[in-house]
Amino acid sequence: MKLLGIETSCDETAVAVVEDGVRILSNVIASQVEIHARYGGIVPEVASRQHLLAAIPITEKALAEAQLELKDITAIAVTNGPGLAGSLLAGVNLAKALALASDLPLIGVNHLEGHIYANWLQNKEARTPEFPLLCLIVSGGHTDLILMHDHGKYQQLGQTRDDAAGEAFDKVARLLGLGYPGGPIIERTAKGVDTPRRLPRAWLKDSDDFSFSGLKTATLHMARDLGITGEAISPASEHLVGEIAAGFQESVVDVLVTKTIEAAKRNGVRQILLAGGVAANSRLRQAMIERSSTPVLIPSPILCTDNAAMIAACGYFKFLEGKSSGWDMDVRPNLRLV
Ligand code: KG4
Ligand code: ZN
Repeated sequence: MKLLGIETSCDETAVAVVEDGVRILSNVIASQVEIHARYGGIVPEVASRQHLLAAIPITEKALAEAQLELKDITAIAVTNGPGLAGSLLAGVNLAKALALASDLPLIGVNHLEGHIYANWLQNKEARTPEFPLLCLIVSGGHTDLILMHDHGKYQQLGQTRDDAAGEAFDKVARLLGLGYPGGPIIERTAKGVDTPRRLPRAWLKDSDDFSFSGLKTATLHMARDLGITGEAISPASEHLVGEIAAGFQESVVDVLVTKTIEAAKRNGVRQILLAGGVAANSRLRQAMIERSSTPVLIPSPILCTDNAAMIAACGYFKFLEGKSSGWDMDVRPNLRLV
């Protein structure tokens, strides 16, 4: 069964074709990152206009790369929340138009659920998630620890009390003068630094919640004390910026890994899954695998950040359970997983 997935919740226009929820036949992503980088962050109005421009060409490309036509598709899965309202509308309207024109079922998918299902897409080790499992979702808007008992059965153990992990990466990159998008830039800047600066860790003992705003403030104070103002980085301060970036990354990774492993043990899960853009971070991937005695599954980096293959994968398992959406499906910018 082949599903067409559509994802436009933020600043990536993505369309993919996935077979039986696991095999990627095409995965096309049009990133707007260069456009938004000029403004230092995402401009919602610009994002929705770009989605409208990209929607049809990206859909045609995804079908062509899969060597299929719309008539070969069984159903259309689309992200209907959470995300930016105008961005979500572009994808949902595209999905409705395609479904109506080809008489196909429509399946609304929660973006966060989609991130989790990136783990079902075939990996090199050909490993399939096994329940019960614990999923750490770390994206630009969320840091959630989710206990998953079965397909579609979620229990929230913890969440961030302030900034999401990805948001902290983006804000710290900005205050260090590194630019946008922060996550990949901090990772590059920290690479090879062997004297990371020590920054605090917020453990929030006896809770599975997270907090990153204190770390962000501590990073800001350390940077200012060392004369780093967030303006263009001088050659003299380059190594200091690297040490701070590496120290910040170590702190985030340590907290995420330690708390996830503890929660996995306490709940007796069979696997730990990582999901969301921050799961593309190689330091987080390495530390989670090295430190966990519970088997760890992580999608390839390109499937951690926003894509439509994960939406098609999630849509497939919903479709198997007989879940589909009506023509009145609306966008839900604040949609929750639990
Ligand atoms: O899942 P995602 O692509 O979009 C959302 O649903 O939010 O996540 C984007 C977030 C951004 O905050 C970005 O800085 C972060 O993921 N990110 C990373 C890396 N790649 C993306 N953070 C750390 N290291 C990375 N390599
Ligand atoms: Zn995302």
